[in-house]
Amino acid sequence: MASTDSKEHEKQLEGWFYPSEEIKSEAYVSSMDRYKELYQKSIDDPAGFWGDIANEFYWKVPPSKEKFMQFNFDTREGKVFIKWMEGAVTNISYNLLDRNVEKGLGDNVAFYWEGNFPGDSKQITYSELLSEVCKFSNVLKDKGIKKGDRVAIYMPMINELVVAMLACARIGAVHSIVFGGFSAESLAERILDSTCKVLVTADGSYRGAKLIDLKEISDEAIGKCKDQGFTVETCIVVQHVGGGSGNGTVSPRTSPVAKKPCPPIQTNFNSAVDCWWHELMSCASDKCEPCWTDAEDPLFMLYTSGSTGKPKGVLHTVGGYMLFTAVTFKYVFDYHPGEVYWCTADIGWITGHSYITYGPLANGATSVLFEGTPFYPDSGRFWGVVDKYHVSKFYTAPTAIRALMKFGKAVVQKYNRKSLKVLGTVGEPINPEAWLWYYRTVGDERCVIVDTYWQTETGGHVITSLPGATPMRPGAASFPFFGVVPAIVDEHGKELEGACEGFLVMKQPWPGMARTIYGNHERFERVYFSKFNGYYTTGDGCKRDSNGYYWITGRTDDCMNVSGHLLSTAQIESALVEHDAVTEAAVVSCPHKEKGEGIYCFTTLMEGVEFNEQLIKELKQKVRSKIGPFATPDVIQNSPGLPKTRSGKIMRRVLRQVAKNDKKIGDVTTMADSSVVDNLFHNRPHVD
Ligand code: WTA
Repeated sequence: MASTDSKEHEKQLEGWFYPSEEIKSEAYVSSMDRYKELYQKSIDDPAGFWGDIANEFYWKVPPSKEKFMQFNFDTREGKVFIKWMEGAVTNISYNLLDRNVEKGLGDNVAFYWEGNFPGDSKQITYSELLSEVCKFSNVLKDKGIKKGDRVAIYMPMINELVVAMLACARIGAVHSIVFGGFSAESLAERILDSTCKVLVTADGSYRGAKLIDLKEISDEAIGKCKDQGFTVETCIVVQHVGGGSGNGTVSPRTSPVAKKPCPPIQTNFNSAVDCWWHELMSCASDKCEPCWTDAEDPLFMLYTSGSTGKPKGVLHTVGGYMLFTAVTFKYVFDYHPGEVYWCTADIGWITGHSYITYGPLANGATSVLFEGTPFYPDSGRFWGVVDKYHVSKFYTAPTAIRALMKFGKAVVQKYNRKSLKVLGTVGEPINPEAWLWYYRTVGDERCVIVDTYWQTETGGHVITSLPGATPMRPGAASFPFFGVVPAIVDEHGKELEGACEGFLVMKQPWPGMARTIYGNHERFERVYFSKFNGYYTTGDGCKRDSNGYYWITGRTDDCMNVSGHLLSTAQIESALVEHDAVTEAAVVSCPHKEKGEGIYCFTTLMEGVEFNEQLIKELKQKVRSKIGPFATPDVIQNSPGLPKTRSGKIMRRVLRQVAKNDKKIGDVTTMADSSVVDNLFHNRPHVD
């Protein structure tokens, strides 16, 4: 690059970008002044602000003004609690489906389903979705599921996944969705923790050219539960890839790429436990009176990584989550009726829960539900789908953007993309290079980028830009959403003012915030409220600049963010030490071009064991089978000694420097044996 160009490029990376007049003229919030006005109202008068939003929904018993927001964040004052609109009575599936059908949206498409194979697609309208949800609600009731019971869902990205979750919501059951990339062991651990009597799965799913045998993994998980003395009574199986002997309504998926049907898979069928979805649905009634739930009744739980390794079942409740996902969806994507929206996340993560299912449906939106990957059949797939459905609001992760960048512009420019208006990003800090590529190459410098910072625990966007209002800075999550009061504190919990850097915390709840960790409120208090008294601790570092923009700098705990997925170092370490050859393991993150953070493992082996390719393979396999393929280590280094303090604590900060190959290791006076570090640098494997 010529030096003037590169200067220009650098200026751009640090630059300011503004929404176009066209975007502003359509936007619900079209200036920073208007944003500030609405934000102030949301803080000064939560009951008034959220009351107006609540009025757009149906309540059997409306929320009372006095009970909008009740909370205690300070463990010194007693138990931590968060309640919104307690005593109000509603049903979220009724609000997402029946209410929209009554409004005349019944024939509108809720989802355009786009399968892994181009050409394999279908759609489902609001009326059809309502009828399917009622039917599956009756199926679940028939299987003995009652209000408050937990139902595990382990499914690919198909319409039936949305049906299953909304059916749970309709009858007051609590869904616990486990991402389809998790291993049998992880699935079993989650089923056991929440004691789910019913598991809903599918015969399999194609991701690119690869078939994932979800049923086999489910069977293995059910077996593991049994070994622990817990019986999964029913496993309901969607026949999606045409597997098994069931008299299926689904024909085997056809791959236009291979120009032949995908080979049917053999699905084991244990008639004592397994039922085919289509058989149960064919005789279920399509009418089901919703279960009227309190705003504070549980809606779902979703496991997220914790520093100790044991996943936390983050619990969300009905009323506040409904309001918050609906309103963030509307304002952050500036969604207008008739537009087509597409979030490429998997419903198995919080992004899919809030911004594929709940938020869009609460707004009567039309979305794309995509089963495949960005690279299949080639790396133009995203843009082909955008053109096919005229997507105007598009939401993806920095890791996908970085992975697509390396294929160059041409494959993007082959597609029209004129329908696009707002491009969202989520999951990890977006590096300015990726931001600029998204802005220029995908958005043709015409679209707005919204960088949305949030967490499984926050339920929805908490720091974000708004399309028509916020001047954009590449890499800045920008400003708090309505009702959210962030602060930055130092390590003593002292609030910092003005431009500063420290720990990101929240001073008061917003409606979509998690209420507890399922079955372990004490852990909820400890993890999120004990580090800084009176604040919710996000676990992220953050900078605030002199213009008031918030810039997330990354995790400050023992979690890492790999391709936008949170993983705990402890979880990977415990998988590694399960291998007979390993006596000790320490895991840290390392910079990774595509994934954002990679997984770098240091292992100390038993005396006499040889460190070789075969062992590396086995160790990687161990982690894959304990957690899932997305947690596969990038580097495993043989480490006869680990840097430890005199009290025996592993010094991860030193290991992070080794992983980065950066010799600035700082103060090591507390280290028991500093020669260890030289050896680690010396024996570093060659890493790209
Ligand atoms: C990170 C995903 C910077 C952050 C919705 C957070 C982000 C964790 C952003 C939560 C963003 C998410 N900028 N960092 N826009 N969005 N993160 O629970 O570290 O899977 O704590 O929820 O992802 O991950 P989770």
